[in-house]
Amino acid sequence: MKKTYLLSLFTVLTVTVVSSQNSNQDTLLKESIERGSDIYTDFCINCHMPNGEGMENVYPPLANSDYLMKNREASIRGIKFGQEGELVVNGVTYNSVMAPMGLSDDEVADVMNYISNNWGNKSDDIVTEEEVSNIKK
Ligand code: HEC
Repeated sequence: MKKTYLLSLFTVLTVTVVSSQNSNQDTLLKESIERGSDIYTDFCINCHMPNGEGMENVYPPLANSDYLMKNREASIRGIKFGQEGELVVNGVTYNSVMAPMGLSDDEVADVMNYISNNWGNKSDDIVTEEEVSNIKK
């Protein structure tokens, strides 16, 4: 009897802790995406376009980008330090240059969360400022 009571109390506590962690994480991600939207408009939209569609054979798309979804670290590195050389997005090869934009690590995290959760992309695993700061050239 006592054991059952303790066990159910433990279950209730665990469920409460886990679900509040989840909703906290959801809120952080939502806020980061909102900030990332402004950064996108200021720094990325000219090349990657309002719906992330890019420009055929010139600027790769971010919308439904297999590159972005499969190469999280390389994408962060490219946004942080610039990106040049061959790169394949959805079967199309680009060989161009994206200059670094001088964003701070938290801004890179925000814009990554924005582009990874828009236009057909989805990633619940939030990019943090710490993750960005650990990525070196
Ligand atoms: C001046 C045009 C330009 C701007 C501005 C620009 N990019 Fe890019 N971006 C490119 C080009 C060109 C490439 C491909 C570079 C290559 O061929 O190696 C690229 C590649 C990428 C990639 C990897 C490929 C893909 O499509 O998934 C990501 C992610 C990306 N850019 C995100 C961003 C973000 C986020 C911003 C704003 C903070 C931004 N870019 C601003 C031109 C630009």
